[in-house]
Amino acid sequence: MDKIEILGGKPLNGKISISGAKNAALPILAASLLTNSKLELCNIPKLSDINSMIRLLQSLNATIHKKSGKVMIKSQKPKNNFASYDLVRKMRASFLVLGPLLSRYGEAKVSLPGGCAIGGRPIDIHLKGFEKMGVNFNIKDGYVVGKVEKKLNGATIHLPFKSVGATENLLMAATLAKGKTVIVNAAKEPEIVDLGECLKLMGASIDGLGTSKIIINGVKKLIGCNYKIMPDRIEAGTYLLAVLGCSGCVELVNLNKEVIQNLLNTFSQFKDLDLVEKNNTSILVKFTKKDYKSINIKTLPFPGFPTDLQAQLSAVMTKAKGTSTIEESIFENRFMHVAELQRMGANIVINGSKVIIKGKKKIFGAQLMATDLRASSSLIIAGLMAEGKTIINRVYHLDRGYEEIEKKLSKCNVNIKRIKG
Ligand code: UD1
Repeated sequence: MDKIEILGGKPLNGKISISGAKNAALPILAASLLTNSKLELCNIPKLSDINSMIRLLQSLNATIHKKSGKVMIKSQKPKNNFASYDLVRKMRASFLVLGPLLSRYGEAKVSLPGGCAIGGRPIDIHLKGFEKMGVNFNIKDGYVVGKVEKKLNGATIHLPFKSVGATENLLMAATLAKGKTVIVNAAKEPEIVDLGECLKLMGASIDGLGTSKIIINGVKKLIGCNYKIMPDRIEAGTYLLAVLGCSGCVELVNLNKEVIQNLLNTFSQFKDLDLVEKNNTSILVKFTKKDYKSINIKTLPFPGFPTDLQAQLSAVMTKAKGTSTIEESIFENRFMHVAELQRMGANIVINGSKVIIKGKKKIFGAQLMATDLRASSSLIIAGLMAEGKTIINRVYHLDRGYEEIEKKLSKCNVNIKRIKG
């Protein structure tokens, strides 16, 4: 298994190009099941999660060609609407094929996504929503088997929690349902808006994207389109935090400033962190001071502070001036990075749903184990901030969601390399 080796302590200086957003590309790939015309998607990031989704779509009879950041897909009727355990267990987003399959073919058998290192992650909100649209479910041998009498019916669905995945699954299903669907208390994440914009280009009738009430009028058929996936705001936030933790000056290019405005507002509380807008697609992040203040923050659904940056922020706060409290309100157990940061000498503890971090002048390199995707990138940041050598094992988690992270960072004049396993 590959490892990442870092010799920490250097500032970051250079330019980083932000890749397409994993969390937008995955549902948009799943949406290809809604039509048998060709979908041409560009700015698809090179990630193992994308490859997992592609394999799943191929198993559902899609013909797929990949060419430098582009994916061309043509979905034909699958022999059976079956998503196997082997293909679904690797990635929870695989469950997003359920909505398109039910909507298009009236039945589907999809493996339960199972547990995950960051908490239980149930699918009850998805299933209750589909039930309102007329689907009957059976859970058998680890599979969700769903069937609808004739066609999915539009319905008004109140989500008990702003679930990103449930909003996406129901939104996709509703595009071909009979009549009007209203998703109330919908999640507002920009990746959902990106999915919705792509569906609109495919011929769907959708209003209220980016608000908590999405209205979909079902159409008879969707068609193919060309679509460019939005930039990855979590990747951008990760590099921005790396500059705060290590100091330096990095230009982030190919991003969408609009969708990271909430992050820029949050980070503007670090007085000496310069965030200079060059234009709508690039910002210069500059931090030349030795210390920065601590933070008290809670993760929340968009536009709140994203849970997907909680681990990275925790790593940066290990060297802040003062005590930080970061509350995780989305997932009940997203603190796998804490024990690893402790091994680096950080003063960080878990207290219920919070991490309390007493900033120290120094943290030290160590042998570490990557546990989940965002925990892994927090360890990369910590390794860059630390004195001495850090080795991060099990980096396949990183490859799920960060395109060539070590290459992008090594172009910023820091010592980081991959050791092939
Ligand atoms: C998506 C993102 C993930 C991000 C998360 C929250 C993708 C591919 N992944 O995950 O990176 O961290 O949003 O922003 O886009 N829940 C239920 N029942 C359900 C569904 C969810 O209880 O049926 C709970 C989950 O256990 C979790 C919370 O709701 O505690 C948020 O989950 P959700 O918003 O659905 O996250 P995902 O779509 O899985």
